[in-house]
Amino acid sequence: MADSKRNATLTIGEQSYDLPILSPTAGPDVLDIRKLYGQAGVFTYDPGFTSTASCDSTITFIDGDKGELLHRGYPIDQLAEKSHFLEVCYLLLYGELPSAAQLEDFEERVTMHTMIHEQMMYLFRGFRRDAHPMAIMVGVVGALSAFYHDSTDINDPWQREVASVRMIAKMPTIAAMAFKYTIGQPFVYPRNDIDYASNFLRMCFSVPTEDYQVNPILSRAMDRIFTLHADHEQNASTSTVRLASSSGANPFACIAAGIACLWGPAHGGANQACLEMLREIGTVDRIPEFIACAKDKNDPFRLMGFGHRVYKNFDPRAKVMKQSADEVLELLGVEDNPVLQVAKELEKQALADPYFSEKKLFPNVDFYSGIILEAMGFPTSMFTPIFAVSRTVGWISQWKEMIADPQLKIGRPRQLYAGDTFRDYVDMEKR
Ligand code: CMC
Repeated sequence: MADSKRNATLTIGEQSYDLPILSPTAGPDVLDIRKLYGQAGVFTYDPGFTSTASCDSTITFIDGDKGELLHRGYPIDQLAEKSHFLEVCYLLLYGELPSAAQLEDFEERVTMHTMIHEQMMYLFRGFRRDAHPMAIMVGVVGALSAFYHDSTDINDPWQREVASVRMIAKMPTIAAMAFKYTIGQPFVYPRNDIDYASNFLRMCFSVPTEDYQVNPILSRAMDRIFTLHADHEQNASTSTVRLASSSGANPFACIAAGIACLWGPAHGGANQACLEMLREIGTVDRIPEFIACAKDKNDPFRLMGFGHRVYKNFDPRAKVMKQSADEVLELLGVEDNPVLQVAKELEKQALADPYFSEKKLFPNVDFYSGIILEAMGFPTSMFTPIFAVSRTVGWISQWKEMIADPQLKIGRPRQLYAGDTFRDYVDMEKR
């Protein structure tokens, strides 16, 4: 926690109160209002947490105005270019880039946990075949706590470590199995002799009847998608994980809560919603019509894949994703894909429109990720599960940081009550 050397003064009526100003290592100063209610008897009001820091953290920093995203200080574009997902996982979890030996040991530990308990297969079979893979993931990940009792004691650092590695290792297996289940194909077991991203692609796309070779360019693109989504500081799903964990709930249950939150179209569900929107637009000549709807105050339609709560400049992840989309589509020989044509033209027209520039609405990471995933052969329903696989390390890192904090308190927001005041119960015959 940053030290306070300065105070702000809040005056309510005749009375003034000093509020310590905390200075972070980067980003705007923070007013410490923890004692405000005790001293002044007032709450602060900030639905959506637009001006409220809910914790202190050393993991990820975003400068929304500059369009900068740093993990433990390292910029995301450098990590996407020079690193790979498991190394970024290590960085997020432990705070530093690993040495070669540390990385080898970490990869070995993750690899040794990729299978799930065989009994869990029956859980999958309890779902309808047409279930959304996110619905399956919420259930199956929550159920991990029923299978791995030896890593649910949050007060034991060793169990926390095992639970963390287990979740990073098992999430691709669970997501791939959810996919296979919904398309009626046999589950494919993980392989420990190939890298994380290739293993995921193999579990999704191989069938027992044929050999399957993972294309290294697709595997690299998959790894990049994982890397770009790995963490994003106190977003809705991460805050959900933190809030759920603050009660002392076990980590598997908390990550299941994060997955549920991620599912929504304003968050992780946006990549699915974006591709569906691009398909609905269909041809470039219809773009102005959709832009007009997005600008119309009386129309709830929004351009999916545009805008961000924090980025008020280009989302740095979107730049890398766009480049990756070009590479993948070229490799697959589908550069003239109509969805991509619509996406490129939509981006151009929206960026040239004063509505979007004045409101600082730029393409976000989801604008291009769906195009890559579709080109790889994933149905839209798998886009958000893939986001969940990637974000698991962010959730886990933030969870570990929070549990290790001696100042941990249960999260318990206040409210501005706007309902009826006290009234006596009215008997049925008098209503
Ligand atoms: N299309 C049209 N108008 C928009 C859009 C959009 N995509 N996004 C925001 N606006 C307008 C909004 O109508 C509002 O206008 P006004 O000030 O006139 O009322 C203004 O911009 C500010 O919007 P807001 O809803 O107050 O902003 P927010 O920070 O609460 O919302 C957001 C951020 C991401 C939910 C929103 O931009 C959105 O719904 N975007 C589309 C969904 C999307 O792509 N989500 C993925 C986010 S990135 C991945 C992730 O982190 O999960």
